[in-house]
Amino acid sequence: MRLAAFAALAACAALAQAQDSAREIQRYRQMIAEGSPAELFEVEGEALWKKPEGPKKVSLERCDLGEGPGVLKGAYAHLPRYFKDADSVMDLETRLLHCMTTLQGRSREEATRRVFGSADRPSEFESLSAYIAAQSRGVRIAPGMSHPKEKASYELGRALYFHRVGAWDFSCASCHGDEGKRIRMQELPVLYKPEAARPVIATWPAYRVSTSQLVTLQWRMNDCYRQMRTPEPTFASETTVALIHFLTATARGETYHGPGNKR
Ligand code: HEC
Repeated sequence: MRLAAFAALAACAALAQAQDSAREIQRYRQMIAEGSPAELFEVEGEALWKKPEGPKKVSLERCDLGEGPGVLKGAYAHLPRYFKDADSVMDLETRLLHCMTTLQGRSREEATRRVFGSADRPSEFESLSAYIAAQSRGVRIAPGMSHPKEKASYELGRALYFHRVGAWDFSCASCHGDEGKRIRMQELPVLYKPEAARPVIATWPAYRVSTSQLVTLQWRMNDCYRQMRTPEPTFASETTVALIHFLTATARGETYHGPGNKR
């Protein structure tokens, strides 16, 4: 009798455990569906946004990303755009760099020493861009398109997209120019077409699962130029901003819903 009782007890325990695991798996699935690793970078970015830095020991909280000093809601979805105080068109990272040098009194050299991070140590720009982009979720993508410098930047970006360079004579369109092209199983979106640019731009910056990194559009431009075997473009240069401007303008009207996940 005692044995039977034990067996019943053991069966009960096993059943409870199985129910527990099923519940845990369910919980895990829910967590993945609800949250993305990008959220960890958002938290880090918020801390960096509020942290006093540089010779002036001030935070970035008064940085004007285009919607007014310190306004984050919707700011990312409206970039790149023209900034009068800098008399140029800026994307998010270029504008952040501007605020680091003007508000915080940091040198360009120091602030850009480490613009692309690693899995265990993201760069300031990566964490900040995750945090700031997240404040544009649900906002329609609408970069600046009216100022003459905005128009010029868009046109430059478009020209660069089709401009062949380097030893291999590649343009962006060499890889991102025809439907159905793939490299190592990766689909190559035809980014000068709105239907392809929209879902892509609406999810950058993004968490890159294969390298456990939060990557930005400045990084993406850099990495694609690397694949084109050209010298590395300068971070936050007119060229990279123009390309990002062109791609973002092509995606306009889409609702921003990043930071997303990439392979
Ligand atoms: C040699 C081929 C090649 C060229 C040329 C190239 N790319 Fe790419 N690009 C890729 C590959 C491969 C990926 C996908 C990588 C991955 O999934 O990890 C990619 C991804 C991208 C993405 C992200 C797509 C997404 O789904 O989120 C963007 C944006 C992009 N490229 C823009 C450009 C621009 C702008 C240029 C020109 C400056 C360019 N690429 C030139 C190969 C190329």
